[in-house]
Amino acid sequence: IEQMPLQVEINGTVRKLAIEPRVTLLDLLREQLHLTGTKKGCDHGQCGACTVHIDGQRVNACLTLAMTTEGSKITTIEGLASGDNLHPMQEAFVKHDGFQCGYCTPGQIMSAVACIREGHASSPDEVREYMSGNICRCGAYANIVDAIMDVKQ
Ligand code: FES
Repeated sequence: IEQMPLQVEINGTVRKLAIEPRVTLLDLLREQLHLTGTKKGCDHGQCGACTVHIDGQRVNACLTLAMTTEGSKITTIEGLASGDNLHPMQEAFVKHDGFQCGYCTPGQIMSAVACIREGHASSPDEVREYMSGNICRCGAYANIVDAIMDVKQ
């Protein structure tokens, strides 16, 4: 299959890539770039495990064709910490036990950061609504909401 050129900035590094047009952003990140922090749960836009930011907006990477991200800035869970310092949201998830198995955690944290940035953390109910696309089979929801409300203050 013919490859297309793609230039994107991923976690602060400009990447010049060659991709097949059919490849999703999720598969590009995981298979081609080995950024496996972004998880594949359903691959159909239903679980939120693949949540990343494109130009600051949260998206499901499994629903995004990589070729549509030309010229954009992509942030994955690997790009959130600065050096040895975890992002405040990562710290809060640790502090509040916002996970059990951890599989959904990268997506939860990327959504949680967007939740606050977009101003949807005025109350626990608003946080629950915003975070409703991120599924956690362990049921860590209460602690996740606590973590987000803690960072927000
Ligand atoms: Fe993308 Fe489930 S893997 S929403």
